[in-house]
Amino acid sequence: MRFCDFFLLFLLPLLASCAERKVYIVYFGEHSGQKALHEIEDYHHSYLLSVKASEEEARDSLLYSYKHSINGFAAVLSPHEVTKLSEMDEVVSVFPSQRKKHTLHTTRSWEFVGLEKELGREQLKKQKKTRNLLEKARYGDQIIVGMVDNGVWPESKSFSDEGMGPIPKSWKGICQTGVAFNSSHCNRKLIGARYYLKGYESDNGPLNTTTDYRSPRDKDGHGTHTASTVAGRRVHNVSALGYAPGTASGGAPLARLAIYKVCWPIPGQTKVKGNTCYEEDMLAAIDDAIADGVHVLSISIGTSQPFTYAKDGIAIGALHATKNNIVVACSAGNSGPAPSTLSNPAPWIITVGASSIDRAFVTPLVLGNGMKLMGQSVTPYKLKKKMYPLVFAADAVVPGVPKNNTAANCNFGSLDPKKVKGKIVLCLRGGMTLRIEKGIEVKRAGGVGFILGNTPENGFDLPADPHLLPATAVSSEDVTKIRNYIKSTKKPMATIIPGRTVLHAKPAPFMASFISRGPNTIDPNILKPDITGPGLNILAAWSEGSSPTRSELDPRVVKYNIFSGTSMSCPHVAAAVALLKAIHPNWSSAAIRSALMTTGIVKQHS
Ligand SMILES: *[C@@H]1O[C@H](CO)[C@@H](O)[C@H](O)[C@H]1NC(C)=O
Ligand SMILES: *[C@@H]1O[C@H](CO)[C@@H](O)[C@H](O)[C@H]1NC(C)=O
Ligand SMILES: *[C@@H]1O[C@H](CO)[C@@H](O)[C@H](O)[C@H]1NC(C)=O
Ligand SMILES: *[C@@H]1O[C@H](CO)[C@@H](O)[C@H](O)[C@H]1NC(C)=O
Ligand SMILES: *[C@@H]1O[C@H](CO)[C@@H](O)[C@H](O)[C@H]1NC(C)=O
Repeated sequence: MRFCDFFLLFLLPLLASCAERKVYIVYFGEHSGQKALHEIEDYHHSYLLSVKASEEEARDSLLYSYKHSINGFAAVLSPHEVTKLSEMDEVVSVFPSQRKKHTLHTTRSWEFVGLEKELGREQLKKQKKTRNLLEKARYGDQIIVGMVDNGVWPESKSFSDEGMGPIPKSWKGICQTGVAFNSSHCNRKLIGARYYLKGYESDNGPLNTTTDYRSPRDKDGHGTHTASTVAGRRVHNVSALGYAPGTASGGAPLARLAIYKVCWPIPGQTKVKGNTCYEEDMLAAIDDAIADGVHVLSISIGTSQPFTYAKDGIAIGALHATKNNIVVACSAGNSGPAPSTLSNPAPWIITVGASSIDRAFVTPLVLGNGMKLMGQSVTPYKLKKKMYPLVFAADAVVPGVPKNNTAANCNFGSLDPKKVKGKIVLCLRGGMTLRIEKGIEVKRAGGVGFILGNTPENGFDLPADPHLLPATAVSSEDVTKIRNYIKSTKKPMATIIPGRTVLHAKPAPFMASFISRGPNTIDPNILKPDITGPGLNILAAWSEGSSPTRSELDPRVVKYNIFSGTSMSCPHVAAAVALLKAIHPNWSSAAIRSALMTTGIVKQHS
């Protein structure tokens, strides 16, 4: 921590106590009465002053004073100061800031859930009904959705304000400028933008500006994807590297977006590993969003550690939002299938699981014995129409890599170019290496193609990834077939047939195996997740400051991209909330959640 480095250099005797200092959130509940903003800050300051040695120390330690709806502050404290503050009157809770990792955690999903008409002859009745719903909601116009995420790529056509009416009069937010983001980047669609990183920088030192923009601009893709899923305009003729061609649209295409950027790169890690989001930064964002006048909050962030509501930043923020009649949708997390891995279990949150839609990216694998296996991928790279030698990664590792399960994970540097060159390599999911990175390792070692094999716990989820070489993903049952074939012959051969987009795939929907599971560790009586939404292989807008895989080794730039996770399903539900809110402005958050949870249509299942 920077703060401590300072002391370490100049005041060695303080070393021990300093090492234990970190950011805590001191929570007081609600603000009572009408206080001016500076009075609230003085009030928070007086608490800090009562435990700190000097006025200056108190001032330096304060990161945020939450003044609008949330009553509390974030400050650097020692364990001793925490104990003292916890015992004070009016203090509800004092808890250490947790880093919250993204739970990384369209062209098709709205038709699949029945919100948009399906192109074709059938379902005339349904068409009429769904169009009426969208029209009745005026496509979400007048509804403001706050995105607590990692920013936005404002140039995306999904955020065009062409033809949109004036910004709702109730809006009180701002367009905060910064690196590569000026006031012209906000418009009648992106009506607000802010960013928060005091907590992040207090822990990590100054942001490395080669890895992200110090502004609301998204250098990752996640925030742009979720925002356009909620409220992207209808954009024709888009695709992800040629796959899933069609019209991309958010669920509430005329709703307004307010961007609150709270997530930043993990220092020293590649972008593929995701982002980190600090609770004190998120609380500041949510407190502002409430004051700015958002109607819906979409938060695809969470951790799967057990906590109590009073010590969970998102739960506290969401509680204040809900009391202000803002509906909060959060992702359930992608830490399944183990039990009690659920994020965001608070009863006032709509906790969203993830399921498939009826679209597949069929990329068959043909083995030398003629067997054809139905894999999936969205790689644009193609193999020649011929058979290639096939090898199981565990049989092609460099000397020294242990020949156990991890040998098949295609970790960086594990494959032996002599055994891989010119071949198709079967790698298994799992281990420390992400799916995209496994393909990169195969490519590095000279492989021509890549099979990503599920383990039994991955179930039927076939992730359609934009790999950097010809590739396909197969089920664990198919892994067994491939391995049996490899064992059965001296010269195993295979080829990957270029993929294509297939609609009306069955069964659909099925629950994604990765979604975090209950039971709810805090309140086992309250079942969670509340609802599921499309979250497997979802197409939406992407940041042009990133690559489709988010890997620095990937030079490609795309405007739309396919991604999976409860991060993708949460904004689908937020969009449905926006439409309902437009039709029923006086319904409470609980009424809207109840309406969503108790309404359904029957889908043909097999
Ligand atoms: C904002 O930046 C864009 C370039 O990204 C530029 O064209 C525009 O003039 C700038 N607007 C203002 C108000 O500075
Ligand atoms: C900032 O990030 C870049 C890219 O990851 C890295 O090469 C560089 O060393 C980092 N700079 C600092 C000061 O950490
Ligand atoms: C769609 O985009 C492709 C490639 O960008 C282009 O070749 C094609 O003409 C476009 N089609 C329409 C209908 O705009
Ligand atoms: C494989 O072996 C390595 C080194 O002995 C060990 O660290 C790792 O945990 C093993 N993995 C499995 C799945 O057994
Ligand atoms: C919502 O409530 C307000 C005030 O109670 C009332 O004036 C308005 O008509 C209500 N709107 C609807 C759509 O019921």
